[in-house]
Amino acid sequence: MTDVTIKIRNNGPLLVQGSCLITDQDENVLSDSDKLVALCRCGLSGSKPMCDGSHTDGFDGALNPPT
Ligand code: FES
Repeated sequence: MTDVTIKIRNNGPLLVQGSCLITDQDENVLSDSDKLVALCRCGLSGSKPMCDGSHTDGFDGALNPPT
């Protein structure tokens, strides 16, 4: 059984859903709920490590790049 699901959004964040603890490098808790959390993978968010929607400014994170 899967406790945590991480879904990679094409040109968007990592969606983390399930019971897990997310901390920073000093182990300060950033999220400890079962709610859906969107983690930035574009580097453009103003509230890292969370996604704030800034990836819509041209982030190309396609999982299946053209060949
Ligand atoms: S992935 Fe959404 S702001 Fe970076």
